[in-house]
Amino acid sequence: MMKGLKKWRLFSLLAVMTVFLSACGEEYISTLQPAGAVGKEQFNLLLFSITIMALVTIVVSVLYIYAFLKFRRSKQGEDFMPKQVEGSHVLETIWTVIPIVLLLILAVPTLITTYKFGDVAAMEQVDENGNKTALTIDVTAKLYWWEFNYPDLGIVTSQELVVPTGEKVYFNLKAADVKHSFWIPSVGGKMDTNVDNINKFYLVFDEESEGLKDGVFYGKCAELCGPSHALMDFKVKTLAPEAFDSWVASMQATEGQTASQDSADLGEATFAANCLGCHAVSSVTGMPSGAAMGPNLTSFGDRSHLAGFMKHDKENLMKWINNPEEFKPGNIMATAYEPGKFSDEELSALADYLLGLSVEK
Ligand code: CUA
Repeated sequence: MMKGLKKWRLFSLLAVMTVFLSACGEEYISTLQPAGAVGKEQFNLLLFSITIMALVTIVVSVLYIYAFLKFRRSKQGEDFMPKQVEGSHVLETIWTVIPIVLLLILAVPTLITTYKFGDVAAMEQVDENGNKTALTIDVTAKLYWWEFNYPDLGIVTSQELVVPTGEKVYFNLKAADVKHSFWIPSVGGKMDTNVDNINKFYLVFDEESEGLKDGVFYGKCAELCGPSHALMDFKVKTLAPEAFDSWVASMQATEGQTASQDSADLGEATFAANCLGCHAVSSVTGMPSGAAMGPNLTSFGDRSHLAGFMKHDKENLMKWINNPEEFKPGNIMATAYEPGKFSDEELSALADYLLGLSVEK
């Protein structure tokens, strides 16, 4: 009696959890609500395979239940001996051919789609002036942040990927330290970023992110990479082509921007003396991708999240600068100075300065 009750409880718990899980599909992060051509096609493949699997499960279950009920000893009698089919060529052929056919039906569209998504030939195409026709972004994954370099536009950003809608965006993916994996669940992927080779693929962003919660799609690191793996998030802002072009122009206009130790602004002076060695405040760095020690902060004030996952406000920013290790264990900034290095006055001024770094205002 007790045992039956326990099982019943477990079953109820699982049932309730299913209800919770069914609410996990948020547009900005769900693979099940694709927002781009690549994600949609991957989703369709998923539905297609599940349909085939469900059909197999249903047919097998029906046959099983039928045999189970029909050949019960109470119905057939004690001495009943069913027809022996061992070694039947017909049956063996049937149950060998059906799985082969099903696997072929599954494999052909999967392979065709996989090769299509791996086709990055258009990355190298140029127009009559020798300019690349497709937008390519070099992604460098680092412990625990992301750098996005636009080599043909001469700009670099970090933590928030900005892309235009309605065109194929090509990615060169690599890692600077250990293996990570680049994943924007709603849009497609994922793909590993490795240290010793560059992986390439493309994505299509069909929907502007403005209407979403926080105004962005969520991106994740999908490869266990260290203590802060779960916090290695990035965000994706998708803009209509004209808005994207004007964002690019504003980023390009930051060329040469820097911070001065002699500034009358305490925040800027503190930043220049302590942070500028690792963090650039000009998007046009001229540095090869991956050369920057810390995230580029040119458009820091425009970001939707702090450190990829925290609420983007002054209070959190001060706490973060004061002791980064507390929030993202294992990050490199935490090794650069001791917690408590900055006074409250300096922290407040630094936070004001950083939140003022914007190309969108
Ligand atoms: Cu980077 Cu997990």
